[in-house]
Amino acid sequence: MAGGAPAAAEQHAGVHRPGGPRPQESAAARRMTVTTLRGKHHRGEPISMVTAYDYSSAVHVDSAGVDVVLVGDSAAMVAHGHDNTLPVSLDIMLQHCRAVVRGAPRPLVVGDLPFGSYESSPAQAVESAVRLMKEGGVDAVKMEGGAASRVGAARAIVDAGIAVMGHVGLTPQAISVLGGFRAQGKTVNSALKVVEAALALQDAGCFAVVLECVPAPVAAAATAALQIPTIGIGAGPLCSGQVLVYHDLLGMFQSPDHSKVTPKFCKQFGDVGAVIGKALAEYRQQVEAGSFPGPDHTPYKMSPVGVAVFADALRNIGLDGAAAAAAAAADAGKTEKIVGDGKPHEGDNINNGILSSAGAAV
Ligand code: KIV
Repeated sequence: MAGGAPAAAEQHAGVHRPGGPRPQESAAARRMTVTTLRGKHHRGEPISMVTAYDYSSAVHVDSAGVDVVLVGDSAAMVAHGHDNTLPVSLDIMLQHCRAVVRGAPRPLVVGDLPFGSYESSPAQAVESAVRLMKEGGVDAVKMEGGAASRVGAARAIVDAGIAVMGHVGLTPQAISVLGGFRAQGKTVNSALKVVEAALALQDAGCFAVVLECVPAPVAAAATAALQIPTIGIGAGPLCSGQVLVYHDLLGMFQSPDHSKVTPKFCKQFGDVGAVIGKALAEYRQQVEAGSFPGPDHTPYKMSPVGVAVFADALRNIGLDGAAAAAAAAADAGKTEKIVGDGKPHEGDNINNGILSSAGAAV
């Protein structure tokens, strides 16, 4: 990570993704748009979508060739540790969106409208969606719910020129009225409501609809009834595409407490939490044992002459202990490779008698 991240960050810089190919973009890795997504759907190709919340998760999702990245309000839970999605604000979502956009130049990036940012009126919904686009740099927004007021808000956002993804079935922002994270569409009435809501969102101009936690026949019916793609999560295989939460699919949280709340429908495609835990424990043990950093990870050298000048300079200012420490460190590293002839040269940087090699690679 140490050397790679800043270099990668420079390549990905620019929240608004200025037009034209990026250095690492090839013709084969063109950006997904609502139009390319529609093309995939028309060809019957399944659509993949994953959430991401920061630069590194976005880079991973982009590199894996996933079609759509959702900056989900599930950030409230997996990135901020809340019990539900309600606390996350639009300002916090904007921070997540900007980081994801920098890391994911290829997929379509969809920003979730958080609870409280669009329910009051279509005008509020448009204002929040405009902020996600302008300040967050996303390509489209997602909003939950299929009630008439939500459909009106979706229509207003589309009319403002912003692509909207709908979300019906279990809508986690509605846990207060749903009485918790509960599957929807299990009765005939509720199943019909899910399909009708999805149809209403399509009529409002949505380009896709998420179906969350509904029985497979309900998802299949909605997918057959709609012209636009359905993206399922806990909705079975008969959707146009699938979405999972990044942390869930990677098996990021492995503690018994966290495992208890991992949704039943989630398949863990990795054991990343265990890998991270092992690496961190090893790091801690090596720091405590003094075996990290060893010579291989102590790259910055000073020539023997430089160390002698440095030690003299330290003694001259009364820092005898520091001079002895510098000399002892140099002795300990004597077997390390010295670049050049080890003598000071013009161009070497000497500040107050302290010498460092000019131009050394950091
Ligand atoms: O916020 C989120 O992660 C979502 C997905 C579960 C669809 O809305």
